[in-house]
Amino acid sequence: MSYEEKHLLHAIELAERGLGQTFPNPIVGAVIVNPEGEVIGEGFHAGGDHAEIVAIKDAQSKGYGVTGASVYCSLEPCNHSGKTPPCSTSLIEAGVAEVYFALSDPNPIAAGGASALREAGVQVEGDLLVNDAVYSNRAWITKVRLGRPRITVKIAQTLDGRVAASDGKSKWITNDSARAHAKQLREQFDAICVGTGTAVADNPTLRGATRNPKRFVIGNRDLPSLALNQEEGFEQLKTHDFTHVLKVFSDKGFNSVLIEGGPTLISAALSSDVVDEIHLYQAGSILGSGKSSVDIPEFTDFSHQLHYEITALSIIEGDIFAIYFKKDDQ
Ligand SMILES: NC(=O)c1ccc[n+]([C@@H]2O[C@H](COP(=O)([O-])OP(=O)(O)OC[C@H]3O[C@@H](n4cnc5c(N)ncnc54)[C@H](OP(=O)(O)O)[C@@H]3O)[C@@H](O)[C@H]2O)c1
Repeated sequence: MSYEEKHLLHAIELAERGLGQTFPNPIVGAVIVNPEGEVIGEGFHAGGDHAEIVAIKDAQSKGYGVTGASVYCSLEPCNHSGKTPPCSTSLIEAGVAEVYFALSDPNPIAAGGASALREAGVQVEGDLLVNDAVYSNRAWITKVRLGRPRITVKIAQTLDGRVAASDGKSKWITNDSARAHAKQLREQFDAICVGTGTAVADNPTLRGATRNPKRFVIGNRDLPSLALNQEEGFEQLKTHDFTHVLKVFSDKGFNSVLIEGGPTLISAALSSDVVDEIHLYQAGSILGSGKSSVDIPEFTDFSHQLHYEITALSIIEGDIFAIYFKKDDQ
């Protein structure tokens, strides 16, 4: 048998289906290919069994044995006993012949799977698609590196940078398809937050398309009954201090947090320099005076400005969707 990149790319795609469901763990996908080159098992981690185990069970449920098979993993198989036994051990016991993985595990607690597999006679090749794997697992990697979740700000604004009219009306800035897209992306985050201003003005539900992230409202004022109280409810953090907010989110083990507004909270997050990523939806409308999406005091020194660079750009029925990463970020 020999390595085929398409199977590893597929493992990375499978991993992404677990976004929003794996914290504090990374997302991981796995594909099992038999010696005839046929895909016999697929799996991804969604908070329960690890991807490799899901894929082995998938193959077995279809009547396939995995002895002598090749396993493609988006991340190095773990070598750590947590809620489940080490995947390296499970793969050795299952008798697989080859393991190909996209990225070595940067987490010292779980790393070492490749060595354990090699010692058991399994042929192993790693770091085969590092850039793709880092991109898809960037939230968890930020947490491993910085000890806090990756923070993304979402902005839906007009062409002149407004998120609401001066009387507070903001429904709707972007088109139906862009809003449906935002709802899909929302559930890929572990948690979502808005400031008390948005909670009171919009009474949002902050739903995902098929499931809801953990929901937070940040700010000191007492909140009247909110739509957010329906379903699983929300938690209020009565603070303006982002160090405290990040500590709460880190203690909960979140990999990713989405700040959905409004402009005061977004501006405070940007001023605190904790925003790793910006998701910008931009409509083709001009609203005139109204609330700006970002309103922070002018930097006293030109060199202090914050820099983000575009990493993805698409058009959603006439609206723009762009992803920006903090410059010098991976
Ligand atoms: N187009 C969009 O994407 C979008 C998204 C969201 C909101 N909006 C619009 O934005 C408007 C609401 O704007 P907003 O700026 O009032 O909403 P906001 O940013 O959600 O809430 C602001 C409030 O958050 C609290 N807060 C929490 N942390 C803070 C910090 N570090 N610094 C300062 N305040 C902090 C403060 O309230 P306390 O006094 O309670 O502490 C502050 O008044 C609405 O019209 C809404 O429709 C538009």
